[in-house]
Amino acid sequence: MHIGVPNETTRAERRVATSPQVIAALIAEGADVSVESGAGTAAGFTDEVLAGAGAEIVASLTDTTPLDILLRVTPPDDDALKLIRDGGAVIGLLAPAANAERYLAQSHIAAVALESLPRSTLAQSMDALSSQATAAGYAAVLLGASSMPKFMPMMVTAAGTVPPAQVLVLGVGVAGLMAIATAKRLGAVVYAYDIRPETKEQVESLGGRFVDAPTQEMDEGGYARAVDDETAAKQREILSDIVASSDLVITTAQVPGRAAPRLIDRADVERMEPGTVIVDMAAASGGNVEGSVPGEVVEIGGVKVFGPDDLASTVAADSSRMLARNLLELVKRMTVDGELLIDPDDPVVGPALVKRETPDE
Ligand code: NAI
Repeated sequence: MHIGVPNETTRAERRVATSPQVIAALIAEGADVSVESGAGTAAGFTDEVLAGAGAEIVASLTDTTPLDILLRVTPPDDDALKLIRDGGAVIGLLAPAANAERYLAQSHIAAVALESLPRSTLAQSMDALSSQATAAGYAAVLLGASSMPKFMPMMVTAAGTVPPAQVLVLGVGVAGLMAIATAKRLGAVVYAYDIRPETKEQVESLGGRFVDAPTQEMDEGGYARAVDDETAAKQREILSDIVASSDLVITTAQVPGRAAPRLIDRADVERMEPGTVIVDMAAASGGNVEGSVPGEVVEIGGVKVFGPDDLASTVAADSSRMLARNLLELVKRMTVDGELLIDPDDPVVGPALVKRETPDE
């Protein structure tokens, strides 16, 4: 089985869809792995390191086609899909909602979107949404901490006592939990809130304080449901004061298939002290914060409002390692006796298939 890993071409993407450890593991499974020269450099995996793990380093994957599997961090363009043999597959974070039609038009291959894997125990080791949200939640706190003019921990020094920073985390899913844990490790006083009631215990087990705003039960899939206008207004009213007294606010709230809920209005931002920071991790899907802009930092009354869309990429070595491990587990699940076998009825692979086509038999 021939697996290809390209240089990602997306703006500022530093991650790569493999790692030295995973290359070695794929080869142990009987695969050949070709990696485009420079693909791992920004993640700290040089060509030499990847070759040392057993990869064939090529100037371009076009030199080594056809591939059985193309591994991607980001959605591939149509030319990249042509590198794959009939009946082969592209696997990665393929943004299926935006790109499904494009993949369906390439009827010779299957597109397997990591975003669409079930969030079940069976698929946990392949859960790239979780691994990348873990990396992003960590990176969001570091971005905030390094952008504000204050210490995070309390410091008792000969030059005086400095109180700890106050951090507020809104949305306690995978990214939010990691943000709470990271801010606690840096010594901040951490408040957090989520619409799902069971997150209260999770927040408290990490040493955070749960903000007493409305909660409601989640849907059958375990995700948050959208809140009605009255509940949303009540949320914002309660959150407004705690936002105003925070030094750093990290927002992560998402509702699958919908625009992100607005949790902080511009008037709330304007109540914050100059020099304080907001990191809106939901900026690209509509924003939890009024005024945040995806991929940019804007200043509102002296408050820096970040709308980063590349947080996992800022810790590319470890986010790539985790993503590569997710991909390895999925490739193993899609392989029988060293051959790619795409089973649309598989409870893990089936839901992730954007499109499937097996070779004519
Ligand atoms: P996500 O990225 O979809 O959303 C982030 C958080 O925003 C969620 O915790 C959600 O409850 C919260 N949220 C949504 N609307 C809100 C509002 N109006 N106000 C406040 N908070 C709001 O979430 P993520 O991190 O992808 O996790 C989604 C669910 O999947 C969670 O229930 C999580 O526990 C579960 N999960 C299960 C896994 C497994 O069983 N293998 C693995 C990962 C997650």
